[in-house]
Amino acid sequence: MSEVFKQIVSHCKEYGYIFQSSEIYDGLAAAYDYGPYGVLLKNNIREYWWKSMVQLHDNISGLDAAIFMHPETWKASGHVDAFNDPLIDNKDSKKRYRADVLIEEYIEKIRGKVDKEVSKAARRFGSDFVEEKFKKEHPRVSGYLQKIEAVRAEMARCMTEGDLQGLGKLINELEIADPASGSRNWTEVRQFNLMFSTQLGSVAGKEEKLYLRPETAQGIFVNFLNVANTTRARIPFGIAQTGKAFRNEIIARQFIFRMREFEQMEMQYFVRPGQEMEWYNYWKEFRMKWHLALGTPMEKLRYHDHDNLAHYANAAVDIEFEFPFGFKELEGIHSRTDFDLKRHQEFSGKKLQYFDSEINESYVPYVVETSIGLDRMFLALLSQAYQEDEVPDSEGKSSKRLVLKLPPALAPVKCAVLPLVKNKPELTQKATEIFNDLRYSFDCQYDEKDTIGRRYRRQDAIGTPYCVTVDFDSLEDNAVTIRERDTLEQHRIPIAEVEKVVREKTSMYHLLKKL
Ligand code: GAP
Repeated sequence: MSEVFKQIVSHCKEYGYIFQSSEIYDGLAAAYDYGPYGVLLKNNIREYWWKSMVQLHDNISGLDAAIFMHPETWKASGHVDAFNDPLIDNKDSKKRYRADVLIEEYIEKIRGKVDKEVSKAARRFGSDFVEEKFKKEHPRVSGYLQKIEAVRAEMARCMTEGDLQGLGKLINELEIADPASGSRNWTEVRQFNLMFSTQLGSVAGKEEKLYLRPETAQGIFVNFLNVANTTRARIPFGIAQTGKAFRNEIIARQFIFRMREFEQMEMQYFVRPGQEMEWYNYWKEFRMKWHLALGTPMEKLRYHDHDNLAHYANAAVDIEFEFPFGFKELEGIHSRTDFDLKRHQEFSGKKLQYFDSEINESYVPYVVETSIGLDRMFLALLSQAYQEDEVPDSEGKSSKRLVLKLPPALAPVKCAVLPLVKNKPELTQKATEIFNDLRYSFDCQYDEKDTIGRRYRRQDAIGTPYCVTVDFDSLEDNAVTIRERDTLEQHRIPIAEVEKVVREKTSMYHLLKKL
């Protein structure tokens, strides 16, 4: 784990964002609890997603389907047979890995060597340096790149064809060692189903196997006609849903990046067959815009086309974000064809067709899906927001501060009200009055403990965009000082305007307007 990533994880704990699940029992791997600020940030991310998808699209409606679904659902969707990860064990360390992840990490290592050579050459050649030409002509670098291509292509083939032996062969040929022990003593690669199961039924011996949903999407597919009929939706239309999903991940690590219980925000867009690529491109662009509207710089985001398509998709792309451990998938946009609806039609025996009055035809719609992990989005935001900078202290000397520069519309607490000093009842009373009024409009905090400088630091560390300080002048002029978290600018404004100013600056309205 990189130093900065370790700091983010401990910051999350120290400031009540995220705790290890069941910590008093030494924790449960890959399960986390969101603390007082974490739950607020999570709610705000969910709200931003919901409003942008449902409120801003008059042809998208919401759904909240049950986590438990009829067991046939998962046979129809292909999850019982095909929702597997290829796993491999190291015989010496007894550690278990995903075979494809070991190979991807090998590729990343070579890519690191390429990047090193490129930046060395860029420094040496200065303005004459042409990266593409260098990559083609430098024998070592072009060799690395060919190797990456060859390994990637072979891995994609093995994954698409389910060739487990091929994956094992590749790991051995590349002499990939166990990252923990360095041993190359591997077992064969085996398939491992990722669904958690439980049982339904009160009669002993008659229990029925149930699965905890591994994606929220299937709840949308099985309700496709219910929603279409009750909303009189006309194609193209979408159904959006947020909720928990569960996967028995072989390697669940990197904090909340990969968990066994997590939350998804998914939308299925039902379209006329043949029009799926048009909508796939629309959603690919819209979803990127959604990330950029938060102020995430373009260089921190990129598209990554899938090398091996899932069994249901005819096109798929990831939006990747540069986490502290490198570029990784944040969101997926998939053109899922009519696979899911057709399979549910087949397994349930119920028609799942749409009558398109424009062309006078009934058909099973095609589906374009956008799917983002709420927890992963949380981590992306936090890792970008977490910064250490220098600010002047009360004596004007420069001092370090830890600050979460979260987008104000998503910040857990929008405003903190601080009496300049604690033991002056006239100040604390005035500040309490202001606080009691503001809390009707947004999440705010009252804090009177410690020096004003310390309180500012505390609010910076939880990412509060505005602090309002009540001082002795406030008693005379009915005005307060408002301090901006990122610029540290301070202004004097009338108390009567505080609510309007903070509401205006932290409202989701401006964020949504950018879409
Ligand atoms: N319905 C499509 C689907 O589930 P996916 O690529 O498997 O596609 C979608 O998952 C998103 O869910 C991912 O982009 C990621 O953000 C999130 N996600 C998937 N597995 C996760 C896990 N184990 N922990 C946290 N987030 C996860």
